[in-house]
Amino acid sequence: MSIHTIRPARSLSGALTVPGDKSISHRYAILAALANGTSEIRNFSPAADCASTLQCLEPLGVRIERAADGVRITGAGLGGLKRSRRVLDAGNSGTTMRLLAGVLAAQTFESTLTGDDSLRRRPMRRVLEPLAQMGAKIRARDAEFPPLEIAGSPLRAIDYTLPVASAQVKSALLLAGLHATGTTSVTEPVRTRDHTELALAEFGADVRVTDRTTRVAGQPRLEAQRLVVPGDLSSAVFFLAAALILPGSNLLVHQVGLNPSRTAVLDFLATMGAPISLVSVEMRNAELVGDIAIRHAELAGGTISAESVATMIDELPMLAALGPYTQQGIEIRDAQELRVKESDRIAALAENLRRMGAEVEEFADGLRVAGNAREKLRGAEIDPHGDHRIAMAFAVAALGARGETSIRDADCAGVSFPQFFSALENLTET
Ligand code: S3P
Repeated sequence: MSIHTIRPARSLSGALTVPGDKSISHRYAILAALANGTSEIRNFSPAADCASTLQCLEPLGVRIERAADGVRITGAGLGGLKRSRRVLDAGNSGTTMRLLAGVLAAQTFESTLTGDDSLRRRPMRRVLEPLAQMGAKIRARDAEFPPLEIAGSPLRAIDYTLPVASAQVKSALLLAGLHATGTTSVTEPVRTRDHTELALAEFGADVRVTDRTTRVAGQPRLEAQRLVVPGDLSSAVFFLAAALILPGSNLLVHQVGLNPSRTAVLDFLATMGAPISLVSVEMRNAELVGDIAIRHAELAGGTISAESVATMIDELPMLAALGPYTQQGIEIRDAQELRVKESDRIAALAENLRRMGAEVEEFADGLRVAGNAREKLRGAEIDPHGDHRIAMAFAVAALGARGETSIRDADCAGVSFPQFFSALENLTET
């Protein structure tokens, strides 16, 4: 088990490029696998999660060539996947499991999808229920947990309203809908990240979005594409937070995805007083990309609740760990979804913030982290509970604390950002 030591830093300055977006990489890989011809995907995410998606696609008859600057994927065409002789392992990746469940449900063969200890504890009913309405035959432990035993069968289009805002469930249904007869529609309670919708259109599917409803027509012919994945904003946020914590910091993050369904975190930071500017913004493969410039500033603090939770779901660990550095603290409510992520993120945040000396109140649906507590924060031993975003959030929080922090099992950062610790070290001045 790897332990990483973080020492307090004076400031963080310079320029950085973060790895390709994890969400977009999954979607491009899966759609390339379903397309005809060879797709070239540059800046494909080096995240372990995206490697899991590729490793699940290969035994299904998809040819994948990995190169330094990306991947080339030769698709099997819609309906062209083959039965895998081995169990498909999604590792730690909820996106891999849920999106592939949608694809595999529609095949003419059986598949088994499993994952690591964390993923085998995560809820799947949310995707199994609507897929069953489409005609899917999937068995799960207690009708909820992986492994998923999927007996492929012909699917019919449905109109489905999601009870819980989830881009993964929406995407699973749209991918299942690609294989179905008729037009599938998915209505969300809150608009979540729309990378699947945008990528579907890039690959040639007939997809339409009105308000909170997305419709996809079944059985299109998908064509291979040449695509570039933007940098991952959810990874960039750890560095933006570090710059905000450390006085004198000045940072530029290059070529980050700025899709409006992902940038609520930047709006929230700006509302708290963060000096953020976006430079050289352009559209690439229907995704906005640009550079983010940020300087240190005192932050007011604030509350995240109701609809904004879904739009910043992956940034909430970092925002909570910023709490002690803000004037009034950070409160997060209506975020019970955080309990079923890679770890119970509410519990992991409360436990580790307290270890650092922060004052935290934990609720069933969130937490309140007291502000104006920079002076109280001390280095501690952090247990990320195997969760990449908890490990990275506390590495950043530790930069402004007194004394050394050790992060247990720090390699788990590789689930989304394998070079995280060296990137952080390169930019910090001690
Ligand atoms: C993701 C959607 C979100 C997010 C996850 C990635 C995606 O999950 O937390 O890290 O790529 O679609 P939910 O859709 O379950 O909220």
